[in-house]
Formats: sequence, structure tokens, C-alpha cells
Amino acid sequence: SSSGGVSAMVDCVRKQAAGWFADSETPLLAVILGSGLGGLADSIDVAAKIGFDQLPGMPVATALGHRGEFLLGRFAGVRVIAMAGRLHAYEGHDIHAISRGMALLASLSVDAVIISCAAGGLNSRYQTGDLVIIDEHIGLLHGQMGMAALCQQDTVRGAPSGLRCGRPTCDPEFADIVYQVCSAEGAAGRIHRGTYLAVSGPNYETRAECRMMKSWGADIVGMSTVPEVVLSSRAGLRTIAIGVVTNMAVPDAPMTASHEDVLAVSSRASERLQRIVGAIAASLSRY
Ligand code: 6GU
Repeated sequence: SSSGGVSAMVDCVRKQAAGWFADSETPLLAVILGSGLGGLADSIDVAAKIGFDQLPGMPVATALGHRGEFLLGRFAGVRVIAMAGRLHAYEGHDIHAISRGMALLASLSVDAVIISCAAGGLNSRYQTGDLVIIDEHIGLLHGQMGMAALCQQDTVRGAPSGLRCGRPTCDPEFADIVYQVCSAEGAAGRIHRGTYLAVSGPNYETRAECRMMKSWGADIVGMSTVPEVVLSSRAGLRTIAIGVVTNMAVPDAPMTASHEDVLAVSSRASERLQRIVGAIAASLSRY
């Protein structure tokens, strides 16, 4: 079952990588690898791999290109625990299942969280391959999926339950680092700060929905991320979520990019995201 407490998963992970957790001196960074960031997994010096299927109550990932495992290792001088593959509402999972990976990460006493995701670009100033720091979101997904059901004692260890204001929670220092990395690469124009709108899928947006979303002020649209951002920030963790614009969701213009174009663009974006994760990691190791 995907309901119930996170403690059994925490105990299981700690047992499987006991030595790694014993090193409490080195900062611990959690990274969720969205479709644009799979490449980071190859850069991590991996100490342990734990498949979703080894964790009590963790459903198995089915979406294409989502590996469904946690990688524990080192990257840029810090300990990293990466969630490679996530669970989506469009796979038939409920809000507990979707949020379980983030709940686990947040319960492992990490120092910071980086969430990445693929997204469709609604803002006409954006281009495919651009990165968007998600400093605001519209949580249609958590409305639809009953995010309130997560407000129970053991969703995230130690986190308060009850109503909270939904103010933006993007870590300002991490956002500065993202801008520094992109500026240093001559790509300052390819990074934005924007509003992410989450829907459940599985369908991409109709033309009418695109118009509606743009009129609401959404800059990008995707099918994940909001529950993770909400859980992570409620747990009081330094958090940044970054969307990769894999395609434009502007149906008034004909779709011109081929699948190959999209893949080429997203793998370039993935390399930039790896350098961003490295720079954020390095900033943690200086404390
Ligand atoms: Cl265009 N829409 C949604 N909902 N999710 C996406 C996307 C579009 N592109 C990547 N993910």
C-alpha cells in the first residue's frame, strides 16, 4: 500500500547505506531527476542504489525513461541522494504515492533539495532548452489530487501539519547560483524565473487550455513538481525547483520541433543542470 507512514522507508534506506549515513560531517543534498536531468546519475560517484521496489510502500515507476531508484553517492564534495524517476498521477497513482519519494528525502535530514522537471513553455519569450526557476506555482494538480490528504502526522518526519500559507519558497541563494552559472556560460538569456502550473495529465493541453493557462499567468506547464515543492518547503528545507522547457505549448503557432530536436535540446539543458547542481553542492560544502 502507498498509504501509511514514511518511517519504514527511512529505516530501510538508513540500513542499506549505514556507513554513508554515518558520515554526518558532509552536507547532504537531495536531487529529484526529472526528464531533463537523467544524465546527472552518471556523474554521481555512487555508493548505494536502492530500487523503489526494495522500499516498503514505495510504488514502482512505470513512466518511460524513469528508472525508479534512489542513488546515494557523492558529487562536487557533498553527499547526494538522487531520486531517478518519479511517479505521476497519469500513471494512476494517488497523492500519497506521488509524494512518497519526496517524503522519504525530506525525512532523511537532508540539507537542501533540488527538484527538476520537464515542462511545456507557455510564455512566448521562452525557447526550448531554456531553464525556469520555479519561484511560484499554480497547484491545480494538488487541488485535483487531494493534497490535503497529505496533512497527516507521518508524511514527513518532524514536519508540522495543518494549514500553511503558500508563499513562494525558492531559496534565494540557490537562485543566485543558477544565474551565476548561466551568466558564466553566456546563457543569461536562457534562464528565467516563472510560474509553474501543474496538471494531472495524461493529455497535453488543448488550445483552449493553453489560452486559459497563459491568462492565469502561468509560464510553464507540467505534470509533477508541485507536491514535492510543497512537502519540501513545509519541512523547512532549502529548496529550488527548476523546469526545463522541452517544448513550447503555444498551439496558435504550428509545432515545428521534431522529437530529435527536443532530445538534443533537453540533453544540452541537462548538462547545464548538472553544472548548476554542482555549483549548489559546492556552495553547501563551504559551510
Ligand atoms: Cl506541453 N504539457 C504538460 N502538461 N506537461 C509537459 C509538457 C506540456 N511538456 C513537457 N511536460
